[in-house]
Amino acid sequence: MTVENASRRSNTKPAAGTPKAAQSNAAAPRLPLGFAARDVAVQLLAAVLHDRGSLDEALAKDLATRSMEPRDRALARLIAGTVLRRLGELEAVLTSFLKKPLPERQGQLWPILLSGATQLLFLQTPPHAAVSIAVEQARRDRKARRFEGLVNALLRRVASEGAQVLQGCDALRLNIPDWLFARWIETYGEDQARHIAEASLKEAPLDISVKDDPEKWAERLGGSLLPTGSVRLAAGGRIEDLSGYADGSWWVQDVAAALPVKLLGPVAGKAVADVCAAPGGKTAQLAAAGARVTAIDLSTARLARLRTNLERLHLKADLVEADAATWAPGRTFEAVLLDVPCTATGTIRRHPDILRLKRPEDLTTLVGLQRRLLDNALRLVAPGGTLVYCTCSLEPEEGVRQIARLLARADNFVRVPIAGGECGIAPEWITPEGDLRTLPYHMPHQDEQLSGADGFYAARLLRRA
Ligand SMILES: C[S@@+](CC[C@H](N)C(=O)[O-])C[C@H]1O[C@@H](n2cnc3c(N)ncnc32)[C@H](O)[C@@H]1O
Repeated sequence: MTVENASRRSNTKPAAGTPKAAQSNAAAPRLPLGFAARDVAVQLLAAVLHDRGSLDEALAKDLATRSMEPRDRALARLIAGTVLRRLGELEAVLTSFLKKPLPERQGQLWPILLSGATQLLFLQTPPHAAVSIAVEQARRDRKARRFEGLVNALLRRVASEGAQVLQGCDALRLNIPDWLFARWIETYGEDQARHIAEASLKEAPLDISVKDDPEKWAERLGGSLLPTGSVRLAAGGRIEDLSGYADGSWWVQDVAAALPVKLLGPVAGKAVADVCAAPGGKTAQLAAAGARVTAIDLSTARLARLRTNLERLHLKADLVEADAATWAPGRTFEAVLLDVPCTATGTIRRHPDILRLKRPEDLTTLVGLQRRLLDNALRLVAPGGTLVYCTCSLEPEEGVRQIARLLARADNFVRVPIAGGECGIAPEWITPEGDLRTLPYHMPHQDEQLSGADGFYAARLLRRA
């Protein structure tokens, strides 16, 4: 998709009920075509890069106050997401044309430049459109106004010479933060680290889990049925418009994220605790498979989303708002799923803001929390019951090392190794210890848009009877 295609209708009249501020914005006569989407893209970038908020939360918040065409919303996310993926390259190009560093925090000057440069270099926007909109954005920003001329000159240089600068760059090393790349090299070796980085910087396809008859849904939606039972479609378009969404026949869930629940085996009729459950992709899987699910999460807002998701899917679970590190329900469960909060470095394809938000020190805090959650989860497992621990992190401290330490201190638990072919799991996704370790370059497809998987780690443990 080119940027212009995606934003064709962005200067249309405001819809009835559009808030005043948005109306005056959308109706302003001299706004260039496509301004609204670029405006939101810049706000999103500022929310992530300046205020350290998450991209999706910023998008939800920002759009709550505006009535936006879906295609403008998609364009804003495309621009912001591309900047976050390719920030290192964009900074290299922009700074190569600057004689001296820009003064810090001149309004939204830097996000405006990043947004303009990404459109020119990666989104095939005609230079006159990208440059004139960026100049207009600077003009409308009280603090960035005095740099209007610089925005114009700099982006024109990006348009004419930026591609050349890019040719000499090591894109992977520039776009992945040094600390993260160094960790991946240490854990996976240089070659694999580069594969992980390359796959992480691509956009992910749309994977869905269906309540039943995945073959039928793959056909109906024009997707393909993956060996693990997920259905894969090319991303793009409004999910809500797809057949089966409104009546709750399926939900969005990455192919790898759907595997931990499958490792529990048949759960129909069983009492299952879904610990750290929101927004509920795994709760839905368990409930759809007939389990009696108790879903626990600390966050009120995220539990509310879980409730809404289950309602749409016509599925049931008991929801508990609690700190799962201390929750003591006075009972045990035949199966426990613990999907811990983590650095989420396996999901950069879907959440490129992770590259810019996570810091090495987050790992220390999260590893401590995961350990406490694990210790409490052990107490929830009935004798003879199963615990599946999982994380969407690529970092060994959050995965295999947590489990190694756990098995050293809890001698009433043993690992039940995963076998190749089980639940459609490919042998190369299984570690020597018998745990699941998917990587972003797994599930390759000749069509790049249909390639990849989130990086998930999962271990299956049995409590001795
Ligand atoms: C990785 S997400 C879970 C994703 C979810 N299992 C799914 O499949 O949709 C981690 C969740 O842990 C929750 N969380 C973080 N700390 C917690 C705690 N101490 N007790 C319970 N939930 C917690 C977060 O609110 C977040 O919803």
